[in-house]
Amino acid sequence: MKILVTGGAGFIGSHVVQALLERGDEVVIIDDMNSYYNPQLKRDRVEQFKNRVTFYKISIWDYNAMKTVFQMHTFDKICHLAAQAGVRHSLENPFIYNKVNVLGTLNILELMKEFGLKDIVYASSSSVYGGNEKTPFAVEDTVDKPISLYAATKRVNELYAYTYHHLYGFNCYGLRFFTVYGPWGRPDMALFKFTKALLNNQPIDVYNEGKMKRSFTYITDIVAGIIMSLDNVKGNDVFNLGSPKTVELNYFIECIEKELGKTFVKNMMPLQQGDVPTTFADIAHTQDVLGWEPKVGIEQGIKEFIMWYKEYMGIKYEN
Ligand SMILES: NC(=O)c1ccc[n+]([C@@H]2O[C@H](COP(=O)([O-])OP(=O)(O)OC[C@H]3O[C@@H](n4cnc5c(N)ncnc54)[C@H](O)[C@@H]3O)[C@@H](O)[C@H]2O)c1
Repeated sequence: MKILVTGGAGFIGSHVVQALLERGDEVVIIDDMNSYYNPQLKRDRVEQFKNRVTFYKISIWDYNAMKTVFQMHTFDKICHLAAQAGVRHSLENPFIYNKVNVLGTLNILELMKEFGLKDIVYASSSSVYGGNEKTPFAVEDTVDKPISLYAATKRVNELYAYTYHHLYGFNCYGLRFFTVYGPWGRPDMALFKFTKALLNNQPIDVYNEGKMKRSFTYITDIVAGIIMSLDNVKGNDVFNLGSPKTVELNYFIECIEKELGKTFVKNMMPLQQGDVPTTFADIAHTQDVLGWEPKVGIEQGIKEFIMWYKEYMGIKYEN
């Protein structure tokens, strides 16, 4: 298959590209390589695919540039992962979220229509559950209380997908990822930030006094769910891709300490605006339709991340 991966230089996107190449698919990447976090990490991820992918450094909100790519390639399926990510950042920078996540996604849907394409798998987020108090979060639950602009844009993507399914017969699977972590991960997320701080003997801010709970989900499990979705996308649906076991932030921190053999200096902080105290995935629907369930536990996943981090950062370690 020939697959367009938007955000292919990103954390999740680059792992998806690797998996698609390994099974022999042809991949075209669109990524604007913006500096929300160090773009060198994005360049290094793409460097792994040298000569094996076609890469376009363009923005998904640029309709004309996007159209040129659709004119040059005939895609079988679209894997749309490009987005302005980050809950906290969206409180200070709302306009970029609308431009990238809403207008960018609309451009892709419109170009699919124009070029006769029907199949899209796109990234949604567990943050669409927002202020919901019922746990675990199930795809049948009402999701009309986004508590950050990021969450609202992801919900808009799901609604647009429904509209294009209804009007033009698109097949759309929206994947609600739950706190993804692993090698090549994002520097703005807890595992990367905490590991870096501990290795540099710096203190960390621990929100909600470490009592936050997350369905942390390892990257290889997420990639498996994305590939299953690309292979089976039919009709319109949304799925939770998240661990059905929640982990408390304090335990997550302990695992990092154990792995690095050092102890954090912690600044205990209240819950931040836009953040939710718990995310907890109900995966019954994902199991039923896709046959997906995660395999990697938190201890193993953190170990794998730290091994990668030390190697990538050139820190010598014994193992
Ligand atoms: N990592 C998680 O825990 C998580 C959780 C829920 C949802 N998601 C979603 O999954 C997707 C991938 O997330 P990630 O963690 O890999 O983030 P990421 O930031 O590493 O990847 C996103 C990629 O999209 C690119 N991009 C951003 N704006 C663009 C634009 N205007 N045009 C083209 N490319 C652009 C970025 O340069 C980046 O390489 C995103 O849609 C994100 O919202 C991630």
